[in-house]
Amino acid sequence: MIKSAARSILGRLHMLEPARRLLGRSTEHGHSLLIRLLDTMSGPIDGYLVEVGSTREKIPGQGSTVLLAGAAAKRGMPFITVDMDPANTDQASRDLSGYEGASAVNAKGEDFLAAFDGPIAAVYLDAFDLDHGHHSQYRLDRYRRYLGTDVTNEACAQMHLDCARALVARLVPGGLVVIDDTWPQGAGFAGKGATAVPYLLTHGFEIALRSRTAVGLRRAARSPS
Ligand SMILES: C[S@@+](CC[C@H](N)C(=O)[O-])C[C@H]1O[C@@H](n2cnc3c(N)ncnc32)[C@H](O)[C@@H]1O
Repeated sequence: MIKSAARSILGRLHMLEPARRLLGRSTEHGHSLLIRLLDTMSGPIDGYLVEVGSTREKIPGQGSTVLLAGAAAKRGMPFITVDMDPANTDQASRDLSGYEGASAVNAKGEDFLAAFDGPIAAVYLDAFDLDHGHHSQYRLDRYRRYLGTDVTNEACAQMHLDCARALVARLVPGGLVVIDDTWPQGAGFAGKGATAVPYLLTHGFEIALRSRTAVGLRRAARSPS
């Protein structure tokens, strides 16, 4: 009886794992992972650092935009942050005003990456939200207004996959991609990178570093596009 009670508690804890991960209690956030990976690259880095999904709320665990802008400036990399919501882009423009070579663009990240023609050396993907059931009405309304869609896990995975597809054509050899809110599940991955990570792994990328909630991939120095 004690054993079956313990199994039932463990089962419930397991069901809570995705929410716990998303709430970010025990993890290194994706932007820190990317900064750590940039530190492993020797010499000057030629190419842009692009963030898809700008800072929306200044709460613990968010705030990636200025941190990445600072990391890019330190390495002489131009920095662009992209967001679909004009309010977030306006905020990012104000926050980046003191960072040389940094700018904020209002666009869908997948469209931006597909059209951008500069060299991209590193990308942080932390955009279309997962449906964790705790989004405010304001946030859900922004998705309807600017993307014409509800927040669903399928749309989230598709958007990050579209970004990954664009990056296979755009990222420089040896370049980095970090996808936030992504974790191993069974033989694959769950979260924002559920389909993007497997796609990249079959298109010349390998996992360079992982935290409990983010996956960092590096493109082979020479790989087929
Ligand atoms: C989790 S927040 C980003 C948080 C930010 N990286 C930070 O840590 O401060 C996700 C952001 O992605 C944006 N977003 C959602 N779908 C998008 C899309 N298709 N293209 C660009 N931005 C998108 C949302 O407006 C929101 O600002």
